[in-house]
Amino acid sequence: MAGGGAPRAVGGLHLLLLLAAARGAGGAAAAWTEEKNYHQPAILNASSLRQVAEGTNISEMWQKDLQPLLIERYPGSPGSYVARQHIIRRIQSLQADWVLEVDTFLNQTPYGYRSFSNIISTLNPTAKRHLVLACHYDSKYFPQWDDRVFVGAIDAAVPCAMILELARALDTKLLSLKNVSDSKPDLSLQLIFFDGEEAFLHWSPRDSLYGSRHLASKMASTPHPPGARDTNQLHGMDLLVLLDLIGSPNPTFLNFFPNSARWFDRLQTIEHELHELGLLKDHPWGRKYFQSYGHRGMVQDDHIPFLRRGVPVLHLIPSPFPEVWHTMEDSEENLDEPTIDNLNKIIQVFVLEYLHL
Ligand SMILES: *[C@@H]1O[C@H](CO)[C@@H](O)[C@H](O)[C@H]1NC(C)=O
Ligand SMILES: *[C@@H]1O[C@H](CO)[C@@H](O)[C@H](O)[C@H]1NC(C)=O
Ligand SMILES: *[C@@H]1O[C@H](CO)[C@@H](O)[C@H](O)[C@H]1NC(C)=O
Ligand SMILES: [Zn+2]
Repeated sequence: MAGGGAPRAVGGLHLLLLLAAARGAGGAAAAWTEEKNYHQPAILNASSLRQVAEGTNISEMWQKDLQPLLIERYPGSPGSYVARQHIIRRIQSLQADWVLEVDTFLNQTPYGYRSFSNIISTLNPTAKRHLVLACHYDSKYFPQWDDRVFVGAIDAAVPCAMILELARALDTKLLSLKNVSDSKPDLSLQLIFFDGEEAFLHWSPRDSLYGSRHLASKMASTPHPPGARDTNQLHGMDLLVLLDLIGSPNPTFLNFFPNSARWFDRLQTIEHELHELGLLKDHPWGRKYFQSYGHRGMVQDDHIPFLRRGVPVLHLIPSPFPEVWHTMEDSEENLDEPTIDNLNKIIQVFVLEYLHL
């Protein structure tokens, strides 16, 4: 249990052997695992883009999804339980047939054993492939200071609220994913709300990423589709889109990974199209959230345990980090509503195009 070092090594080795076996056998049994490499989006036209822009509601997100999350919610705290119940209830209030799973485990921390719970919400869990959206719902533990509590608004209450709002705004469309028949691609959507992203004390391989390390290891050893002999749940992840530190004004996102560059380019194009249609607020000409210049050094975050196991990743985290990061100023007052609304639109279009909805 301590640190999870041994199980991780076994999981990684297992996956490598499976990949080797699949290649050696000509890959017939696992050919579907290659589909993500040539998957194409179904581009939305102008009237569909307008529909998405009208369908998302930032006030609704603010009141119903975000504000209840703006509490102290470090792993094992009373607020963590409240945040988890909130996320689960918001998803259960939707029409689409989300299957919820809470992945609870204990792990050693600098403060002894603590309990962590990831929330995984899946549409059509038996579909072979899933586009995955993820955030971390824990807040970093800081001792209270002048009666002020660290609520981690950008880190990462807003990203989680954005994912909840996406599920609400696209609910009717996502409902149609329930029925996977031969005429439809065997591709669906999964939402992951990680616990324990933050270090309790000092960021290190053992004190950070508790939830994502646990879940990546567990998924690597869970056959997928159910009963499969040589493929696991990580093969079923088409693309892991991780949102973090979103909510401050003027963010700039860079692409980190060549194998997901074409999807990053798609976000850039969607931003441009929505801008041209006048559907983005406070977004003057020349403003670009998604920038093409260079790759920066990789940032440690919940994608790492998945990336190491070969899952394609889009890491949507501003470069540089917002100034309020890990300060008491990371609070509701310092959020920029138009930026969040604009990013909601861009990401919702991205998901619809990816899933051909
Ligand atoms: C835009 O796409 C939608 C959905 O595919 C379609 O119903 C509609 O006719 C299209 N509109 C135009 C103007 O092409
Ligand atoms: C957006 O949500 C708010 C708060 O729930 C609601 O009052 C308002 O009518 C909604 N707007 C639209 C256009 O649906
Ligand atoms: C699923 O879709 C197929 C083909 O469109 C249809 O025949 C079937 O009745 C649908 N099943 C459900 C449960 O809606
Ligand atoms: Zn943080």
